Amino acid sequence: MTGRFITLEGMDGAGKSTHIPTIIQVLEARGIEVVSTREPGGTKLGERLRELLLHETMHAETETLLMFAARREHIATVIEPALARNAYVLSDRFTDATYAYQSGAKGVDINKIQTLETWVQVILQPDITLLFDVPVEVSMQRLALARAPDKFERETAEFFTRIRQAYLRRAEENPARFRVIDANQPLENVTKLVQDIVATL
Ligand code: TYD
Repeated sequence: MTGRFITLEGMDGAGKSTHIPTIIQVLEARGIEVVSTREPGGTKLGERLRELLLHETMHAETETLLMFAARREHIATVIEPALARNAYVLSDRFTDATYAYQSGAKGVDINKIQTLETWVQVILQPDITLLFDVPVEVSMQRLALARAPDKFERETAEFFTRIRQAYLRRAEENPARFRVIDANQPLENVTKLVQDIVATL
C-alpha cells in the first residue's frame, strides 16, 4: 500500500467542499487512513495566514508568497508525514488554485509561480486532482445564496471567468492528473461521479 495525494479544485461556489465527507467515507470503508486538510491553511500557522489572505487587501504577489509560505508549512508538517505513513491526503485546494487565482485571475507572472512551486514542492505533486467545473453564472448564483462572502467571493464575473479558464487550461495541460467533473447537475449525480472516481484510487 502507498499513500495518495488527492486535491479538490474549482471556483468558489462549484461545490467541491460538499463532497469531502463522501470521499472520506469511501476511502475509510476500505480501511485507508485519510488526512483531510485545506489550503490556504492546514496548520496552525497556515490558518492564521488564511485569515489574512481571505480578509486583507494586499498586492497579488504578496498574496502569492503568503500562499506558498502557508503551503511550505503544510507540506512539511502535514502532507509529507501523512504520505510517509501511507495515509491518503485529501486537500481542499492546492497549487492549481494559485495558478487559477493569482496567475489566471490576478495576472501574477506564471514563471514566478513556477519558481515558487519548484522551490516549495521540489517534486511533490498531487496524484489526482478533482476539478469541479460549473459555468460562472451558476457559481455566482450559488455564492449569492451562501454565507457572507470573503474577499475572493466578492469579485466580478470577469474575474471568475478567468479563474475557470485557468483551471480548465491546467486540466488540459495535465490530463493524467486531472478529472474534470461537471458539477452543474443534481447533487446526487455529482456524488455518484465522485464515488466512482474515488473507488479507483
Ligand atoms: P475556499 O477554498 O473556497 O474555502 P471556503 O469554501 O471556506 O470559502 O476559500 C479559499 C479561497 O482562497 C478561495 O477563494 C480561493 C483562494 N485561494 C487562492 O486565491 N489561491 C490559492 O493558492 C488557494 C489555495 C486559495
